[in-house]
Amino acid sequence: MLKDLIEKIDRNRLPQHIAIIMDGNGRWAKKRGLPRTFGHRAGIKSVRAVIECCREIGVKCLTLYAFSAENWQRPRTEIFFLMSLLSEYLKKELKELQENNIHLITSGDVSGLPEKIQKQIEEVSCLTRANSKMTLNLALNYGSKQEIVNAIKGLVKSKKEITEKNLSQFLYTKDLPDPDLLIRTSGELRISNFMLWQIAYSELYFTPVLWPDFSKDELCKAIIDYQKRERRFGAL
Ligand code: IPE
Ligand code: IPE
Ligand code: MG
Repeated sequence: MLKDLIEKIDRNRLPQHIAIIMDGNGRWAKKRGLPRTFGHRAGIKSVRAVIECCREIGVKCLTLYAFSAENWQRPRTEIFFLMSLLSEYLKKELKELQENNIHLITSGDVSGLPEKIQKQIEEVSCLTRANSKMTLNLALNYGSKQEIVNAIKGLVKSKKEITEKNLSQFLYTKDLPDPDLLIRTSGELRISNFMLWQIAYSELYFTPVLWPDFSKDELCKAIIDYQKRERRFGAL
């Protein structure tokens, strides 16, 4: 039960930043004989659940990988559906974010998204700017290699010394701690161009659960598993 799982979580050793590769929507729908779009819509329920759960437990930052720079290779109809769903989500969610004191930010090349969505993102992130309970970071049109190349360009242009610290100031995540825990759903054991720099010492958690089935229980299980690990960062 969720209550028992929540009790098992050590509040003094929470991951500060959890990042999730939300995968498996299409397969979830296929298993039910439904079009892939039904899986994407069903995945919204999981998005709401993990945000709520992180907030309740006291996780300060949650990154959700929602659309990769490579996802443009999908059929136009699916991309159109995903963008509409995102727009609908942003519209509906503002109230919820305000009530729950959550600040929305994004990682990725937002300028490549439809203009309507760019405006919505700007509005929601601006209106939630002062919210301090938690940061919700949506990775949209995000590609980690692209991010690193752009960061290098920015750093060279700035004429600052080339150091890890200075380079990280040119990443989308410059204001965030690196993820402590990276979760990928759907059984795929890969990173798919996600936060390659930032996950250098993240704890990785892979689960076969498909994203629309990922619940608060599943998130708690991942956090409990994370808390059993010994993070050494190369030391003894
Ligand atoms: C994740 O589910 C959502 C996005 C990548 C946008 P998928 O659409 O990748 O679902 P599968 O992996 O095909 O099952
Ligand atoms: C990764 O999932 C991207 C997102 C979850 C947004 P994909 O389904 O696109 O990844 P691959 O193609 O299986 O590696
Ligand atoms: Mg996938």
